[in-house]
Amino acid sequence: MSEATPKAREHWSGSLGFVLAAAGSAIGLGNIWKFPYITGENGGGAFVLVYLLCIAVIGLPVMICEIAIGRRTQRNPVGAFHELSPATSLLAHGIGLAVLLTGASLLLFRVWGWGAVLIAVGLLIFRFGWTLVGFMGVVAGFTILSFYSVVAGWTLGYILEAVTGRLNFTEVAQAKEFFGGFITNPAWAIGCHIAFMLMCIAIVAGGVKKGIERWSKILMPLLLLLLVALIIRALTLPGSTAGVRFYLRPDFSRITAQSVLIALGHAFFSLSLGMGAMITYGSYLSREQNLLSSSFSIVVLDTVIALMAGLAIFPAVFAYGFGPDAGPGLVFQVLPTVFHRMPLGVLWAAIFFLLLLVAALTSAISLLEVVTAYFIDERKWPRSRATWVMGGLITLLGVLCAISVADWSRLEFLHRALVWAFGGVKDSFFDVMDHISSNWLLPLGGFFISLFVGWIWGVKHAVDEIRHGSQNFADVHLISLLAGLKDDPSHNANPHVLTLASLWGIFIRFISPTAVLIAFLHTIGWLDFKPKPPAPPPAASVESAVENP
Ligand code: TRP
Repeated sequence: MSEATPKAREHWSGSLGFVLAAAGSAIGLGNIWKFPYITGENGGGAFVLVYLLCIAVIGLPVMICEIAIGRRTQRNPVGAFHELSPATSLLAHGIGLAVLLTGASLLLFRVWGWGAVLIAVGLLIFRFGWTLVGFMGVVAGFTILSFYSVVAGWTLGYILEAVTGRLNFTEVAQAKEFFGGFITNPAWAIGCHIAFMLMCIAIVAGGVKKGIERWSKILMPLLLLLLVALIIRALTLPGSTAGVRFYLRPDFSRITAQSVLIALGHAFFSLSLGMGAMITYGSYLSREQNLLSSSFSIVVLDTVIALMAGLAIFPAVFAYGFGPDAGPGLVFQVLPTVFHRMPLGVLWAAIFFLLLLVAALTSAISLLEVVTAYFIDERKWPRSRATWVMGGLITLLGVLCAISVADWSRLEFLHRALVWAFGGVKDSFFDVMDHISSNWLLPLGGFFISLFVGWIWGVKHAVDEIRHGSQNFADVHLISLLAGLKDDPSHNANPHVLTLASLWGIFIRFISPTAVLIAFLHTIGWLDFKPKPPAPPPAASVESAVENP
């Protein structure tokens, strides 16, 4: 392996800087806007348990994978896969061939758009092999940031609307109408989006230590402070306990295969996995740092903040007699109405949208950094050029999202072209970007990352990397540890004892890829577990088994 990097790579100043930056990436709109409402919709405390399981079984192992790849190669995702992949990979060629043949047969059935896409992808797989997974990450950075920054722009706009006293809704219907007008007003939506992207670009252009790390160290404590203030406010409102009960009371009857997959998909998005964000951040980590304990801290921080967000939201929503089932509109429609009814409502509304903005900003910079790092490492661009040019292009793509959140009416031409090629498309360009990245690029990325580490790079090499700086933590014998025999020499001499490293290997080779694949097939609609609401199938079959023994 070539260790000859032309210029010494910039590194985080220490574990804390890395953990805060990576937790900043993980903690985002997903935690504060999405997690509370999907928890509310899917069985409260019971869903939280399922989510914790997904985080522990899939999230943490894949997180360790990504950081190990990054730290080992000290490269962006494309360079990282390039360095670690073998000259020829039978598995990659097999997959490429399968994709090509599928594409060709689609053309035979005159499914032009998808056929062409699959053939192109098949050819790319032949040309680039595993490195394509890295490219997919860079593309995902582009597409995710283009719509993420639009939503982030709304939070910026709502801070301004809050402090100028325009979020004065007494009824949710008013708030809904205001929100509709706000997001479809091109001047506002584009202006806020551009302002947000400028902040991102400015931070990323500052570099790893002086930009990303420095701002993470300011913004993450601020985020915690704002969140704690909101929780205290919410929990001290009369009638707030109903909200806590709704949010956290376990309702196991709502747990279905569907909700398990929602939990899994969200675990991935929330931890920023599947597109090399953690590979990139890991590549700025030096080998002395403890990779395992850092990964653990990031995952715990992300989960704790998501849980806390629900405690800031539901108690307040219930205290003012609103329903919890507002779904995605909860944050921009119900909450402003709630705040308006509170004493000092303007202040609380401003604090809440500032919280959202801070969370979105630290996530968005990680998305931009993936794209930037690729152009710096592989194309040898100076950082400032990479950030401004790529940030600028993403901003332009985001403008298309911003003007098309409601429908296609402003992008009629593009719409017609897409309908011609693909038969039908999602409701808006914004939805298309969201759909491509969340449903395709991230799950496929996560699947191939664990497949790659488990079967191509090899668990042995990955574990060698993890061991550096983890003080043999990876080799602690789990059974001896649980049994209180950690220091017993004969136990530790037994090579067949289960260690953290061996457990991780099993997860990465078998469990993560399988789980992610199932979740992926479900999201694209090839597997359908939708339960019939009144009688979930397993219960019914038990009953009929009892009746007819
Ligand atoms: N994790 C962020 C959130 O919860 C979003 C995000 C940032 C992301 N970077 C990512 C998601 C990379 C997937 C991949 O909002």
